[in-house]
Amino acid sequence: MSALATASAPAPVEAPQARARIFSGIQPSGIVHLGNDLGAVRNYVRLQSEYEAIYCIVDYHALTSTHDADLLRERTREMAASLLALGLDPERCTLFVQSHRPEHTELAWLLATVTPVSWLERTPTYKEKREQQPNDINHGLLTYPVLQAADIVIYKATLVPVGKDQAAHLELSREIVRSFNNRYGDTFPQPQAVYTEAPVVLGTDGVRKMSKSLGNTIDILGPPELIRKQVTSMVTDTKRILRTDPGRPEVCNVCRLHRFFGPDFEEIWEGERTARTGCVDTKKLLADRIVAHYSPARERFLELIANPSLVERILESGADRLRPKAEATMAEVRAKMGLRSGSWTQAACSL
Ligand code: AMP
Ligand code: TRP
Repeated sequence: MSALATASAPAPVEAPQARARIFSGIQPSGIVHLGNDLGAVRNYVRLQSEYEAIYCIVDYHALTSTHDADLLRERTREMAASLLALGLDPERCTLFVQSHRPEHTELAWLLATVTPVSWLERTPTYKEKREQQPNDINHGLLTYPVLQAADIVIYKATLVPVGKDQAAHLELSREIVRSFNNRYGDTFPQPQAVYTEAPVVLGTDGVRKMSKSLGNTIDILGPPELIRKQVTSMVTDTKRILRTDPGRPEVCNVCRLHRFFGPDFEEIWEGERTARTGCVDTKKLLADRIVAHYSPARERFLELIANPSLVERILESGADRLRPKAEATMAEVRAKMGLRSGSWTQAACSL
Protein backbone atom coordinates (compact mmCIF):
# COMPACT_ATOMS: atom_id res chain seq x y z
CA MET A 1 0.00 0.00 0.00
CA SER A 2 2.68 2.43 1.05
CA ALA A 3 4.83 1.36 -1.95
CA LEU A 4 1.92 2.12 -4.31
CA ALA A 5 1.33 5.44 -2.62
CA THR A 6 4.97 6.29 -3.13
CA ALA A 7 4.88 5.19 -6.77
CA SER A 8 1.87 7.34 -7.58
CA ALA A 9 3.08 10.39 -5.65
CA PRO A 10 3.96 13.41 -7.80
CA ALA A 11 7.64 13.97 -8.43
CA PRO A 12 9.08 16.00 -5.56
CA VAL A 13 9.65 19.66 -6.31
CA GLU A 14 13.26 20.60 -5.70
CA ALA A 15 13.55 22.21 -2.29
CA PRO A 16 15.11 25.68 -2.21
CA GLN A 17 18.75 25.62 -1.14
CA ALA A 18 18.71 25.70 2.66
CA ARG A 19 20.98 28.26 4.34
CA ALA A 20 24.00 26.76 6.09
CA ARG A 21 23.47 26.40 9.82
CA ILE A 22 25.83 27.97 12.32
CA PHE A 23 26.08 27.32 16.04
CA SER A 24 28.03 28.85 18.86
CA GLY A 25 28.06 28.67 22.64
CA ILE A 26 29.17 31.07 25.33
CA GLN A 27 29.60 30.49 29.03
CA PRO A 28 27.45 32.47 31.46
CA SER A 29 30.54 33.88 33.15
CA GLY A 30 28.90 37.04 34.52
CA ILE A 31 30.30 39.65 32.21
CA VAL A 32 30.90 40.00 28.54
CA HIS A 33 34.32 41.44 27.82
CA LEU A 34 36.01 43.05 24.84
CA GLY A 35 37.67 39.74 23.89
CA ASN A 36 34.28 38.04 23.67
CA ASP A 37 32.90 40.76 21.46
CA LEU A 38 35.84 41.30 19.08
CA GLY A 39 36.68 37.58 18.96
CA ALA A 40 33.22 36.05 18.64
CA VAL A 41 30.06 38.03 19.38
CA ARG A 42 30.58 40.47 16.50
CA ASN A 43 30.51 37.47 14.21
CA TYR A 44 27.38 36.09 15.88
CA VAL A 45 25.66 39.39 15.07
CA ARG A 46 27.01 39.64 11.52
CA LEU A 47 26.25 36.05 10.59
CA GLN A 48 22.69 35.94 11.94
CA SER A 49 21.38 37.56 8.76
CA GLU A 50 23.33 35.34 6.37
CA TYR A 51 22.90 31.94 8.01
CA GLU A 52 20.46 29.97 10.07
CA ALA A 53 22.04 30.91 13.38
CA ILE A 54 21.71 29.17 16.75
CA TYR A 55 23.38 30.64 19.84
CA CYS A 56 23.53 28.91 23.18
CA ILE A 57 24.34 30.00 26.72
CA VAL A 58 26.18 26.94 27.98
CA ASP A 59 25.14 26.58 31.60
CA TYR A 60 25.94 22.83 31.71
CA HIS A 61 29.52 23.73 30.77
CA ALA A 62 29.63 26.47 33.42
CA LEU A 63 28.84 23.87 36.09
CA THR A 64 32.36 22.51 35.67
CA SER A 65 33.60 25.65 37.48
CA THR A 66 30.58 27.27 39.22
CA HIS A 67 28.66 25.51 41.94
CA ASP A 68 26.46 28.33 43.21
CA ALA A 69 22.91 27.83 41.91
CA ASP A 70 21.66 31.41 42.39
CA LEU A 71 24.79 32.85 40.84
CA LEU A 72 24.53 30.58 37.81
CA ARG A 73 20.88 31.57 37.24
CA GLU A 74 21.74 35.26 37.54
CA ARG A 75 24.73 35.01 35.22
CA THR A 76 22.72 33.08 32.65
CA ARG A 77 20.12 35.87 32.53
CA GLU A 78 22.89 38.49 32.39
CA MET A 79 24.61 36.77 29.49
CA ALA A 80 21.32 36.56 27.59
CA ALA A 81 20.68 40.28 28.20
CA SER A 82 24.25 41.08 27.11
CA LEU A 83 23.99 39.16 23.84
CA LEU A 84 20.62 40.72 23.02
CA ALA A 85 22.00 44.16 23.89
CA LEU A 86 24.99 43.62 21.61
CA GLY A 87 22.71 42.92 18.67
CA LEU A 88 21.38 39.37 18.64
CA ASP A 89 17.89 39.61 17.23
CA PRO A 90 15.48 36.83 18.27
CA GLU A 91 13.62 37.33 14.95
CA ARG A 92 16.75 36.42 13.01
CA CYS A 93 18.53 33.90 15.24
CA THR A 94 17.68 31.39 17.92
CA LEU A 95 19.04 32.14 21.39
CA PHE A 96 18.55 29.57 24.13
CA VAL A 97 20.00 28.07 27.29
CA GLN A 98 21.76 24.72 26.92
CA SER A 99 20.02 23.00 29.84
CA HIS A 100 16.62 23.87 28.35
CA ARG A 101 17.35 21.27 25.66
CA PRO A 102 18.50 18.31 27.74
CA GLU A 103 19.03 16.21 24.58
CA HIS A 104 22.51 17.79 24.49
CA THR A 105 23.58 15.76 27.50
CA GLU A 106 22.14 12.54 26.16
CA LEU A 107 24.05 13.02 22.91
CA ALA A 108 27.21 13.88 24.88
CA TRP A 109 26.99 10.48 26.59
CA LEU A 110 26.58 8.70 23.26
CA LEU A 111 29.50 10.60 21.72
CA ALA A 112 31.61 9.86 24.81
CA THR A 113 31.44 6.19 23.88
CA VAL A 114 33.30 6.87 20.61
CA THR A 115 35.85 9.24 22.20
CA PRO A 116 39.14 7.82 23.51
CA VAL A 117 40.07 9.23 26.94
CA SER A 118 43.55 10.05 25.60
CA TRP A 119 42.05 12.67 23.24
CA LEU A 120 40.44 14.41 26.21
CA GLU A 121 43.49 14.21 28.47
CA ARG A 122 45.64 16.00 25.91
CA THR A 123 43.19 18.92 25.46
CA PRO A 124 45.03 22.16 26.38
CA THR A 125 42.03 23.67 28.22
CA TYR A 126 41.77 20.59 30.44
CA LYS A 127 45.41 20.98 31.41
CA GLU A 128 44.87 24.71 32.13
CA LYS A 129 41.76 24.06 34.22
CA ARG A 130 43.55 21.43 36.29
CA GLU A 131 46.00 24.14 37.28
CA GLN A 132 43.38 26.85 37.80
CA GLN A 133 41.14 24.74 40.06
CA PRO A 134 43.35 22.03 41.60
CA ASN A 135 40.75 21.28 44.27
CA ASP A 136 37.94 20.76 41.81
CA ILE A 137 39.20 18.57 38.94
CA ASN A 138 35.77 17.15 38.27
CA HIS A 139 34.87 14.71 35.52
CA GLY A 140 32.95 17.44 33.67
CA LEU A 141 36.23 19.23 32.99
CA LEU A 142 37.60 16.20 31.18
CA THR A 143 34.48 15.52 29.17
CA TYR A 144 33.79 19.22 28.45
CA PRO A 145 34.76 18.99 24.73
CA VAL A 146 32.44 16.03 24.18
CA LEU A 147 29.49 18.10 25.38
CA GLN A 148 30.70 20.92 23.15
CA ALA A 149 30.75 18.56 20.15
CA ALA A 150 27.22 17.42 21.05
CA ASP A 151 26.02 21.06 21.20
CA ILE A 152 27.17 21.64 17.64
CA VAL A 153 26.31 18.37 15.95
CA ILE A 154 22.87 17.88 17.46
CA TYR A 155 21.78 20.63 15.03
CA LYS A 156 24.17 19.41 12.32
CA ALA A 157 25.74 22.87 12.22
CA THR A 158 28.67 23.26 9.85
CA LEU A 159 30.11 26.63 10.92
CA VAL A 160 31.06 27.73 14.42
CA PRO A 161 31.95 31.39 15.14
CA VAL A 162 34.47 31.36 18.01
CA GLY A 163 37.76 32.88 19.15
CA LYS A 164 41.09 31.16 18.42
CA ASP A 165 41.21 29.66 21.95
CA GLN A 166 38.50 27.26 20.78
CA ALA A 167 40.55 25.83 17.89
CA ALA A 168 41.56 22.69 19.79
CA HIS A 169 37.96 22.05 20.87
CA LEU A 170 36.77 22.37 17.29
CA GLU A 171 39.47 19.98 16.09
CA LEU A 172 38.31 17.53 18.71
CA SER A 173 34.69 17.95 17.60
CA ARG A 174 35.76 16.98 14.09
CA GLU A 175 37.65 13.95 15.40
CA ILE A 176 34.62 12.85 17.40
CA VAL A 177 32.40 13.26 14.33
CA ARG A 178 34.79 11.17 12.21
CA SER A 179 34.92 8.51 14.89
CA PHE A 180 31.11 8.36 15.11
CA ASN A 181 30.59 8.38 11.33
CA ASN A 182 33.18 5.61 10.85
CA ARG A 183 31.45 3.38 13.33
CA TYR A 184 27.77 4.11 12.65
CA GLY A 185 27.64 5.54 9.11
CA ASP A 186 27.62 9.08 7.81
CA THR A 187 25.55 11.08 10.27
CA PHE A 188 27.19 14.37 11.21
CA PRO A 189 29.02 17.03 9.17
CA GLN A 190 32.47 18.12 10.40
CA PRO A 191 32.13 21.62 11.88
CA GLN A 192 34.56 24.41 10.95
CA ALA A 193 35.54 27.40 13.09
CA VAL A 194 34.87 30.90 11.76
CA TYR A 195 37.15 33.65 13.09
CA THR A 196 36.92 37.43 13.18
CA GLU A 197 39.79 39.80 12.38
CA ALA A 198 40.68 39.63 16.10
CA PRO A 199 40.74 35.91 16.90
CA VAL A 200 42.91 36.49 20.00
CA VAL A 201 42.40 39.68 22.01
CA LEU A 202 45.03 40.23 24.67
CA GLY A 203 44.05 41.38 28.14
CA THR A 204 44.97 44.61 29.94
CA ASP A 205 48.28 42.96 30.94
CA GLY A 206 49.22 42.93 27.24
CA VAL A 207 50.52 39.36 27.31
CA ARG A 208 47.80 36.88 28.11
CA LYS A 209 44.48 36.31 26.38
CA MET A 210 41.73 38.53 27.81
CA SER A 211 39.78 36.32 30.15
CA LYS A 212 37.56 36.77 33.17
CA SER A 213 39.47 34.12 35.11
CA LEU A 214 42.71 36.09 34.62
CA GLY A 215 41.19 39.39 35.80
CA ASN A 216 42.54 41.28 32.75
CA THR A 217 39.27 42.21 31.07
CA ILE A 218 37.63 45.34 29.69
CA ASP A 219 33.99 44.97 30.67
CA ILE A 220 32.29 46.58 27.69
CA LEU A 221 28.80 46.79 29.22
CA GLY A 222 30.05 47.99 32.59
CA PRO A 223 29.82 51.58 33.85
CA PRO A 224 31.99 54.11 31.94
CA GLU A 225 34.18 54.70 35.04
CA LEU A 226 35.05 51.01 35.15
CA ILE A 227 35.92 50.88 31.44
CA ARG A 228 38.12 53.99 31.81
CA LYS A 229 39.89 52.47 34.82
CA GLN A 230 40.52 49.19 33.00
CA VAL A 231 41.81 50.89 29.84
CA THR A 232 44.02 53.20 31.90
CA SER A 233 45.57 50.17 33.57
CA MET A 234 46.61 48.64 30.22
CA VAL A 235 50.23 47.71 29.66
CA THR A 236 51.56 49.42 26.50
CA ASP A 237 54.91 49.14 24.71
CA THR A 238 57.21 48.18 27.61
CA LYS A 239 60.29 49.52 25.80
CA ARG A 240 58.83 53.05 25.63
CA ILE A 241 60.08 54.51 28.92
CA LEU A 242 60.21 58.28 28.36
CA ARG A 243 57.39 60.33 26.88
CA THR A 244 59.80 61.37 24.12
CA ASP A 245 60.78 57.78 23.19
CA PRO A 246 59.28 56.65 19.88
CA GLY A 247 56.59 53.97 20.37
CA ARG A 248 56.14 50.67 18.53
CA PRO A 249 52.41 50.55 17.79
CA GLU A 250 52.57 47.08 16.25
CA VAL A 251 53.49 45.57 19.66
CA CYS A 252 51.30 47.89 21.76
CA ASN A 253 47.97 46.37 22.76
CA VAL A 254 46.30 49.79 23.08
CA CYS A 255 47.31 50.71 19.52
CA ARG A 256 46.20 47.33 18.21
CA LEU A 257 42.75 47.82 19.74
CA HIS A 258 42.41 51.23 18.09
CA ARG A 259 42.03 49.33 14.80
CA PHE A 260 38.53 48.33 15.87
CA PHE A 261 37.34 51.71 17.10
CA GLY A 262 37.74 54.19 14.28
CA PRO A 263 39.01 54.55 10.72
CA ASP A 264 41.98 56.74 11.76
CA PHE A 265 44.09 54.11 13.51
CA GLU A 266 47.00 54.61 11.09
CA GLU A 267 47.20 58.25 12.15
CA ILE A 268 47.15 57.17 15.80
CA TRP A 269 49.94 54.69 15.11
CA GLU A 270 51.95 57.40 13.39
CA GLY A 271 51.52 59.67 16.42
CA GLU A 272 52.99 56.93 18.62
CA ARG A 273 55.85 56.18 16.24
CA THR A 274 56.93 59.83 16.14
CA ALA A 275 56.28 60.40 19.88
CA ARG A 276 53.82 63.17 18.92
CA THR A 277 51.39 61.45 21.28
CA GLY A 278 52.09 59.63 24.54
CA CYS A 279 50.61 56.39 25.88
CA VAL A 280 48.35 58.32 28.24
CA ASP A 281 46.72 60.24 25.36
CA THR A 282 46.29 57.10 23.30
CA LYS A 283 44.69 55.23 26.19
CA LYS A 284 42.34 58.10 26.98
CA LEU A 285 41.20 58.21 23.36
CA LEU A 286 40.67 54.44 23.34
CA ALA A 287 38.65 54.57 26.57
CA ASP A 288 36.47 57.38 25.17
CA ARG A 289 35.84 55.43 22.00
CA ILE A 290 35.05 52.15 23.77
CA VAL A 291 32.64 53.92 26.14
CA ALA A 292 30.93 55.74 23.25
CA HIS A 293 30.78 52.62 21.07
CA TYR A 294 29.12 50.45 23.71
CA SER A 295 26.95 53.11 25.33
CA PRO A 296 23.75 52.27 23.34
CA ALA A 297 24.31 48.55 24.09
CA ARG A 298 24.77 49.36 27.78
CA GLU A 299 21.42 51.18 27.79
CA ARG A 300 19.69 48.22 26.15
CA PHE A 301 21.43 45.88 28.60
CA LEU A 302 20.13 47.84 31.61
CA GLU A 303 16.60 47.82 30.16
CA LEU A 304 16.72 44.07 29.56
CA ILE A 305 18.09 43.33 33.03
CA ALA A 306 15.16 45.30 34.44
CA ASN A 307 12.76 43.12 32.42
CA PRO A 308 13.70 39.50 33.23
CA SER A 309 10.38 38.07 32.06
CA LEU A 310 11.03 39.36 28.52
CA VAL A 311 14.48 37.75 28.49
CA GLU A 312 13.07 34.50 29.84
CA ARG A 313 10.35 34.43 27.16
CA ILE A 314 12.96 34.86 24.42
CA LEU A 315 15.06 32.02 25.84
CA GLU A 316 12.09 29.69 26.29
CA SER A 317 10.85 30.29 22.79
CA GLY A 318 14.36 29.65 21.44
CA ALA A 319 14.53 26.27 23.19
CA ASP A 320 11.01 25.35 21.99
CA ARG A 321 11.88 26.20 18.41
CA LEU A 322 14.84 23.80 18.56
CA ARG A 323 12.93 20.85 19.99
CA PRO A 324 12.02 19.20 16.65
CA LYS A 325 15.60 19.41 15.37
CA ALA A 326 17.11 18.03 18.57
CA GLU A 327 14.54 15.24 18.76
CA ALA A 328 15.02 14.28 15.11
CA THR A 329 18.78 13.95 15.55
CA MET A 330 18.35 11.92 18.73
CA ALA A 331 15.90 9.53 17.04
CA GLU A 332 18.37 9.02 14.17
CA VAL A 333 21.34 8.51 16.50
CA ARG A 334 19.51 6.15 18.86
CA ALA A 335 18.39 4.05 15.92
CA LYS A 336 21.90 3.90 14.44
CA MET A 337 23.41 2.91 17.77
CA GLY A 338 20.85 0.19 18.51
CA LEU A 339 18.90 2.05 21.15
CA ARG A 340 15.18 2.77 21.39
CA SER A 341 13.84 4.31 18.20
CA GLY A 342 10.39 5.06 16.80
CA SER A 343 10.10 1.77 14.90
CA TRP A 344 11.30 -0.28 17.89
CA THR A 345 8.63 1.31 20.10
CA GLN A 346 5.93 0.70 17.50
CA ALA A 347 6.96 -2.92 17.04
CA ALA A 348 6.93 -3.49 20.80
CA CYS A 349 3.50 -1.85 21.16
CA SER A 350 1.88 -3.95 18.44
CA LEU A 351 2.89 -7.26 20.06
P1 AMP B 1 33.87 32.16 26.87
O1 AMP B 1 33.63 33.41 27.64
O2 AMP B 1 35.15 31.47 27.22
O3 AMP B 1 32.67 31.26 26.82
O4 AMP B 1 34.11 32.63 25.36
C1 AMP B 1 33.03 33.00 24.51
C2 AMP B 1 33.56 33.26 23.12
O5 AMP B 1 34.46 34.37 23.13
C3 AMP B 1 34.36 32.09 22.56
O6 AMP B 1 34.08 31.96 21.19
C4 AMP B 1 35.79 32.48 22.77
O7 AMP B 1 36.67 31.89 21.83
C5 AMP B 1 35.71 33.99 22.58
N1 AMP B 1 36.77 34.65 23.34
C6 AMP B 1 36.91 34.65 24.69
N2 AMP B 1 38.00 35.34 25.06
C7 AMP B 1 38.57 35.79 23.90
C8 AMP B 1 39.73 36.56 23.62
N3 AMP B 1 40.51 37.04 24.59
N4 AMP B 1 40.03 36.82 22.33
C9 AMP B 1 39.24 36.35 21.32
N5 AMP B 1 38.12 35.62 21.54
C10 AMP B 1 37.78 35.33 22.80
N1 TRP C 1 33.86 26.06 25.08
C1 TRP C 1 33.28 27.31 24.66
C2 TRP C 1 33.97 28.44 25.47
O1 TRP C 1 34.50 28.22 26.52
C3 TRP C 1 31.80 27.36 24.89
C4 TRP C 1 31.04 26.37 24.07
C5 TRP C 1 30.30 25.33 24.52
C6 TRP C 1 30.93 26.36 22.64
N2 TRP C 1 29.68 24.68 23.49
C7 TRP C 1 30.05 25.27 22.33
C8 TRP C 1 31.46 27.14 21.63
C9 TRP C 1 29.74 24.97 21.00
C10 TRP C 1 31.14 26.83 20.29
C11 TRP C 1 30.29 25.75 19.99
O2 TRP C 1 33.93 29.56 25.03
